[in-house]
Amino acid sequence: MPTLPPADIGAPVSEIDTPALIVDLDALTRNLDKMAALARKLGVRLRPHAKTHKSSVIAARQIALGAVGVCCQKVSEAEALVGDGIGDVLVTNEIVGARKIARLAHLARQARIGVCIDQVESIALLADAAQGAGSQIDVLIEVDVGARRCGVAPGAAASKLAAQIARSPNLRFAGLQAYHGAAQHFRSPDERSAAIEAAKAGVVETIRHLTAAGFACETVTGAGTGTFQIEGRSGVWNEVQPGSYVFMDRDYAKNTPDDTHGAAAFDHALFVMATVMSMTTSDQAVVDAGHKALSNDSGFPAVWQRPDISYHRPSDEHGVLTFVDGAQRLAWGEKVLLIPGHCDPTVNLYDWYVGVCGLGRPSAHVEALWPVTGRGAVI
Ligand SMILES: Cc1ncc(COP(=O)(O)O)c(C=O)c1O
Repeated sequence: MPTLPPADIGAPVSEIDTPALIVDLDALTRNLDKMAALARKLGVRLRPHAKTHKSSVIAARQIALGAVGVCCQKVSEAEALVGDGIGDVLVTNEIVGARKIARLAHLARQARIGVCIDQVESIALLADAAQGAGSQIDVLIEVDVGARRCGVAPGAAASKLAAQIARSPNLRFAGLQAYHGAAQHFRSPDERSAAIEAAKAGVVETIRHLTAAGFACETVTGAGTGTFQIEGRSGVWNEVQPGSYVFMDRDYAKNTPDDTHGAAAFDHALFVMATVMSMTTSDQAVVDAGHKALSNDSGFPAVWQRPDISYHRPSDEHGVLTFVDGAQRLAWGEKVLLIPGHCDPTVNLYDWYVGVCGLGRPSAHVEALWPVTGRGAVI
């Protein structure tokens, strides 16, 4: 059962119970509009990754702005979004396990579903499940373009898999998944460009083999917030999957943008609101947001508009704020906005988004309460 929302619609931000997951609705709108415009300018299809927001409301807004559908990483995430009316979901991941595959095949009766494979055994399992469910599944072959995670090596390997997919009546060979995860967070534009250039060579080589074997590669998809412009300009990828741009975490903001429209040009739109719950000494304040309220795997949060305060020493339910010399102290009971180090796993800790209009202004108020549709959907 989801918890009760931490605020009422129309309430001032001071009345939000904390810790709470806050969306700056104005910044979110700017980010959504900017990405939709950039994808149009680049001439590629936009299929944003919903692993960041796990929200059918945000997915529907992305689609209304021109996205062809969304990506998910998990079958249960896809189920949650399709259950809320999202009609086109690509699971950018390998799915292993009979129960999960059966669920995916069943889902493909309600929505257009794609999935990635990198192992020949997966193909028969998917084909049997799709036949049993009476559905059709799009299958993309994942190529390891440098992230050293999933995917076959670039080159000939994909052709054998494509041939096997083509022999399966309930499967359709839809193309290649070529996502370079590590490159997203390379700080300099040159490093990111070099990584994607190398990835491109591998994709081109793979397509050459597929073409020679008689397989057309309808979709080449990949890219994230850090590199989507590079793939978008490449002439090889025709679909991009950025996710983090909707919210922009602290880690992403450390990237140097590659031009005026670079990743860092997106705004922070996601915050964890915390309250000073203890301030028994003047050199630190303790807030009610620790590991259960924030994912710290990519570094600690920043305190919004207060570069003179740092967050340290999270424990399960507490975080410690310290001040540079001369910084104005916080008061007991005061609220602060924390910019998460990593948005995706932070979102997964909450049942509700609290959408705020006019954040930072006296008129700021709660405008929307959205469930985190895919919260806990890790299967
Ligand atoms: C396969 C895949 N595509 C796209 C993305 C989106 O990347 P980002 O959140 O960096 O924009 C991710 C993120 O991890 C991913 O795993």
